Amino acid sequence: MNDVLIRGRVLTFVAEPNGIDDTSSCHYVEDGAVLVREGKIAAVGSYGEVSKAAGAGHSVADHRPNLVLPGFIDTHLHFPQTQAIASYGAQLLEWLNTYIFVEEQKFARTAHAAEVADRFMDELLSNGTTTAVAYCSVHSQSVDAYFAAAEARGMCVIGGKVMMDRNAPEQLRDTPQRSYDETKRLIAKWHGRGRARYAISPRFAITSSPEQLEMSRALVAEHPDCYVQTHLSENRDEIAFATSLYPRAKDYTDIYARYGLLNDRTFLGHCIHMSDREVGALAETGAVAVFCPTSNLFLGSGLFDAARFDKLGARWSVATDVGAGTSFSMLETMDEAYKVLHLQGQRLTPLNSFYRMTRGNALALGLERSIGSLEAGSDADIVILDARAKSAMEYRMHTATSLAEELFILQTMGDDRCIDEVYVSGKPMKTKVRRKSALASR
Ligand code: GUN
Ligand code: FE
Repeated sequence: MNDVLIRGRVLTFVAEPNGIDDTSSCHYVEDGAVLVREGKIAAVGSYGEVSKAAGAGHSVADHRPNLVLPGFIDTHLHFPQTQAIASYGAQLLEWLNTYIFVEEQKFARTAHAAEVADRFMDELLSNGTTTAVAYCSVHSQSVDAYFAAAEARGMCVIGGKVMMDRNAPEQLRDTPQRSYDETKRLIAKWHGRGRARYAISPRFAITSSPEQLEMSRALVAEHPDCYVQTHLSENRDEIAFATSLYPRAKDYTDIYARYGLLNDRTFLGHCIHMSDREVGALAETGAVAVFCPTSNLFLGSGLFDAARFDKLGARWSVATDVGAGTSFSMLETMDEAYKVLHLQGQRLTPLNSFYRMTRGNALALGLERSIGSLEAGSDADIVILDARAKSAMEYRMHTATSLAEELFILQTMGDDRCIDEVYVSGKPMKTKVRRKSALASR
């Protein structure tokens, strides 16, 4: 038995925090440890207790005084946009046409898709993200590249081939039948293989004909255990265009409802400009709105109103939305989330931020039994956070007096430099990623 004890200040959430000091929502152990056995968490608690449970000959990875948390979960991003982050000066529709629909054409080349998929996974891991829900390009080979790169690293990821058959360059368009056939084939190949899960991915109402949304409906009905992902109400011009294409729908949300695409495994990117009726439709179906703060600011899309979703009982998760999102870092993402909500008079507490990146996102995915927490039985996807990684942070930490303050410093000032290590199924990954890039730059 190759037991590994990961020692440090252990923090994991058991419930949604309510208020700045709601420590009843979390399980925090100052001299704590997580016992990893065969890729899973076998025990968690004080170092003294947990070391007694470890088998003879176990090793210890001592991360004191750093924090030990569940790996971060990113519920919406685009792997083919890895090299399109920071594309200047446009809002959504112009940005898609000018930059993204050019970039995504490169993924017709298998070798390109494979290279970017490797870099994408390493970038996630460098930032402490162990699970991602990503869009691939329209090309099936991009989906193979995505899942293969995750499988090689042992990562739990969700993803799917973008379906799009209109309002895009010809090279990026499939047809309703082709998108159906290829999605079926990819689900058969990847869904449930190891830690991979499939997301049926019509890009958004603008790039799918009614016939393609009809095919999406069939896919969802035939594969109720797959996820569904699309974009909704991100930008006012987008809403006007989408609703003009589906004149019989009550509103943008109703387009997806009419095609049977809203259920509790559906992830709807953005959901910024929504009526109460639309938020209510999400609440009724259990569909999840995905808050992508860096993207919404970067594209000038608008401010996500989390309080309204809470009030109306609709679920929401958090995500980077790379490449409209400007960073792979969930820490930087939550920094911007805090500011977006602050501008609207809302407060996101530090405990709530870290809950959202971990257990909150896992619950949204229905994967809370395997990821997003450090409870015994979970997969050992773990991030080690160093709140003194930058000199300004180290100096600021001299005056920090609470765990909540330390978390807020990490979120506000932190980035990938604060990821001391990341474990996937108990295997340390960051050191490997670092070594590889050092070799590559020689
Ligand atoms: N809406 C449709 N496609 C996209 C995309 O790739 N990024 C964002 N931010 N919004 C979209
Ligand atoms: Fe997106």
